[in-house]
Amino acid sequence: MSIKKLILRYAPGGVRRTLRDVYFASKLVPGHLYDYRRFLAHAGLNKSRNAQAERAARITLYYHQVEKGMSLAEPRLNFGKPIIESLFSELEGFLRDYGVAAPATTGIAALISYIDFHQRHGEQAQHVREPLAKLLARHGLSMEQARDWSGGTLPTSRAEIEQARHGGFKSFFESRHSIRQFSGGVVAPDDLRRAVETAQKTPSVCNRQSWQVHAFSQPEQMARLLQIQSGSRGFGEQASAVLVVTSDLRSFLGVAERYQAWIDGGMFAMSLCLALHDLGYGSCCLNWSKEPDADKALRAAAGIEPYQQIIMLLAVGTLPEQFSVARSYRPPVDQVLVLH
Ligand SMILES: Cc1cc2nc3c(=O)[nH]c(=O)nc-3n(C[C@H](O)[C@H](O)[C@H](O)COP(=O)(O)O)c2cc1C
Repeated sequence: MSIKKLILRYAPGGVRRTLRDVYFASKLVPGHLYDYRRFLAHAGLNKSRNAQAERAARITLYYHQVEKGMSLAEPRLNFGKPIIESLFSELEGFLRDYGVAAPATTGIAALISYIDFHQRHGEQAQHVREPLAKLLARHGLSMEQARDWSGGTLPTSRAEIEQARHGGFKSFFESRHSIRQFSGGVVAPDDLRRAVETAQKTPSVCNRQSWQVHAFSQPEQMARLLQIQSGSRGFGEQASAVLVVTSDLRSFLGVAERYQAWIDGGMFAMSLCLALHDLGYGSCCLNWSKEPDADKALRAAAGIEPYQQIIMLLAVGTLPEQFSVARSYRPPVDQVLVLH
């Protein structure tokens, strides 16, 4: 009999567990090191490489803040000045190095929409108007040209979304937007149950269905969770429910599955958004890309067990009669589909 088998058979339970822990810890390290090196080498963590994709991501991040700000029920006038400054700086370099292309065009469209929004509210938004005119002139572009680009917000209504939901899969899918205005109606527990039941049809690795949904509807508790999450300022307080989607780490049985919780949990969260949309509710995913302190704070506030991996939060509510959503540009499919 091998030494390994001898130890596993005759060592006391505690020793066996410790030996197994040490064994799996040693097996996990190479995978984590591999991911760590790849992330360090390729992610847009700092501007040292400044690849086109990284610069495009920064532009998207900044113009998204502009679109998001305008899709709130009561946008703060002249909001987002520091972000807009960063957006201008990125746009300048991007247009210079890559020409007139998305997402720079989308960023410019979002800024034009910002100017128009302020004009409707009697404000000039000179901090955008002037630098934008100069940017366009420097790159030989005109305002008329830029007005053809898509960006900013899209006015819509409950009735319009209701109709689109019944127009077949594509129409249903495309009529789901991140909703950042809610009308304060109840999210019925039975509806929540139906949505979760529908989302349970989500595929998962070996059908392990690691997901759980933790639902909160008490105002103080929702406020606390949203405060820790911090990405729903200006609309979270209108939500009628906050959901925390988790994946149970105990469902994952091999070191190669170290990220499966996020994949299965993320797919489930998407299904849940769609199931809520099908029932006529609006939702907005709220990211859980957090450092350990925030993770611990949310666990404590929401009573989430240590073995549950938090995937994301969702703000859920009822749709107002009329509202706006961020346009959230999607690039042409050929940039996404690589036919090999
Ligand atoms: C994982 C994830 C996290 C997100 N976090 C936030 C957030 O914290 N705050 C927010 O307002 N939107 C958040 N969003 C919504 C995105 O901004 C939105 O999905 C994206 O801009 C596309 O727009 P659409 O959902 O309307 O198609 C998140 C989306 C996902 C998938």
